[in-house]
Amino acid sequence: MKETPSAKLVSSANHTASPFGTQFCDHMTLVRFADGRWSEVETLPVGPLPLHPASHVLHYGSSCFEGMKAFRMQNGGVRIFRLDRHVERFQRSAELLCLPLPPADIVEAMIRQLVDLCLDDIPEAPGALYLRPALIGTEENIGAAGAPSAQAMLYVLASPVGDYFSRGGHGLTILIEDQELRSTPGFGQAKAGGNYASALRHVVKARKEHGADQVLFCPNGDVQETGASNFFLINDSQLLTKPLDASFLHGVTRDSVITLARDLNYDVIERDFTVAEVMDWIQTGEAALSGTAAVLSGVGSFVHKGATYKVGDGSTGPNTRKLSDALRALQSGRTEDRFGWLS
Ligand code: COI
Repeated sequence: MKETPSAKLVSSANHTASPFGTQFCDHMTLVRFADGRWSEVETLPVGPLPLHPASHVLHYGSSCFEGMKAFRMQNGGVRIFRLDRHVERFQRSAELLCLPLPPADIVEAMIRQLVDLCLDDIPEAPGALYLRPALIGTEENIGAAGAPSAQAMLYVLASPVGDYFSRGGHGLTILIEDQELRSTPGFGQAKAGGNYASALRHVVKARKEHGADQVLFCPNGDVQETGASNFFLINDSQLLTKPLDASFLHGVTRDSVITLARDLNYDVIERDFTVAEVMDWIQTGEAALSGTAAVLSGVGSFVHKGATYKVGDGSTGPNTRKLSDALRALQSGRTEDRFGWLS
């Protein structure tokens, strides 16, 4: 297993000893697209990619990716969580970026092949093997600013991970940004590197100036999502989140949390809501972020217009814990896979 030179030990309680996403299994799988065809799947040692400096991705940002996890089951087997949904979203991102559409059977085969090669590197739950397919435009043509890349490379990396937000039971600090957008309207649903890049300066500023973990983007008061996860308001009987539209990422974990919440008899409400409602809700209720990396992480405080507002006692709330436990139990095979999410 390889570790990037910058990787540092952060916490022995964090199921792998290194920060999220800095340790890699020795192998990756890779295919190329050229002349209208995808190549056979290759298995390679993880290492530098041969890329021409004129590659489309390096100039015009033709890149998208996915993030999903394989879990070690309680009974010793290994299963991938909602592989089909992640592959569908990957294809949608490719379509939005005018990249060659990777066939689902090829992507699934690449992922399964890699998981089989990395079996010994999969940590016990709640740790997991994070799987990162990435698709990039590789046509060598700096004149192609207004044309899609006719060539592409698709590769999958595997990384043993623990918690993304390693805060123990402490809630996250979230800065509410009510002026700026996370990404271009209509493009937020793409899992494109460019969307994360466009949110970055706000996240860096929020961390530096307010010690915040993330930024909740709420342009004109409309509560959307954070720089790397979807957003929920939760109380003893309800779960409130924004309905799907093109402006934000259609989280697979978001969908899983909604399904589990309905199963646990929460009233799930998908509607637009405002920052004022968030402030009102947290007087008595909870807030949480969801994502493959974040799972379901509780918010402990919000920073808004320079003031800090605590959520409950500042730790992850009981309903957030209940839903997060239900998700983690299903993912690791401790409860029945009643929705057919593990494969
Ligand atoms: C994920 O949750 O899979 C993401 O892509 C977020 C990233 C910050 C790790």
